[in-house]
Amino acid sequence: MIIYVKNNKGGTGKSSISRNLAHGLTTKGFRTALVSGDSQNDSLILLGQEFTDKKGLKYFSQYGEDIEIRIRKDLDYYPLETNSIGTGLRKKVIKAFERLDKEYDIVVVDGAPSKEDQLSKIAAEVTHQIIIPVQLDGASIKAIKRLQETVDIEKVSCVVPNLFLGTKDETDIYDALDQFFESTNVYLTKAIKHTAFERRLCLKGKSIYDSRSKKTLESKAVYDEIMDVIITWE
Ligand SMILES: Nc1ncnc2c1ncn2[C@@H]1O[C@H](COP(=O)(O)OP(=O)(O)O)[C@@H](O)[C@H]1O
Ligand SMILES: [Mg+2]
Repeated sequence: MIIYVKNNKGGTGKSSISRNLAHGLTTKGFRTALVSGDSQNDSLILLGQEFTDKKGLKYFSQYGEDIEIRIRKDLDYYPLETNSIGTGLRKKVIKAFERLDKEYDIVVVDGAPSKEDQLSKIAAEVTHQIIIPVQLDGASIKAIKRLQETVDIEKVSCVVPNLFLGTKDETDIYDALDQFFESTNVYLTKAIKHTAFERRLCLKGKSIYDSRSKKTLESKAVYDEIMDVIITWE
């Protein structure tokens, strides 16, 4: 199963959520691949490693050679070496995703903040589910209401509000979103709070599943919601 974490807007938490989610899935017994859709490979850095080699997903698609980086037990990372993947490689990249889908229980794709590049288009096509991290502000609401223009809304399983500060404005926006999605199959999870603890974990290259601190419990509960939706999605 392929899960695409996507929002065309940057800074909503795609990379940080991808890393927690991918690591969380391994704790439930799933062999997981985390694929970077962005050549910044932020989610790799957020898990404590850097991409130094030149071989990434493009190379993997072209030559089929293994390039994955083992980052945790049952978790492999597929970095991206360049954002320029031409249309000529389209079929090979699709094949590469098919191969990953067979080799792993779950493939999580950390999306780039763009919809125009070839890889973003392919990921939107091959994915079974899309997860959208959002910030609870006016711009995000507008973006969500235009979602149908960018992604296949039928594939959106979860919308995950992130970086929640607990203001009245955010709560009002959350309620509006809740109403908006009521009549759809999209599951709006509880909001993930903006915490100094999560920020520190990011800086230290750790996921919330590397930590036993009680400070992670609230966000782990949201990831449990997301994982439940993913697993039961049809
Ligand atoms: N819940 C959170 N609490 C604190 N900081 C967060 C949280 N979620 C994300 N961040 C921080 O916000 C920044 C942007 O997140 P990131 O995952 O890189 O977004 P994107 O991949 O969508 O551009 C990062 O510096 C990350 O550490
Ligand atoms: Mg990112």
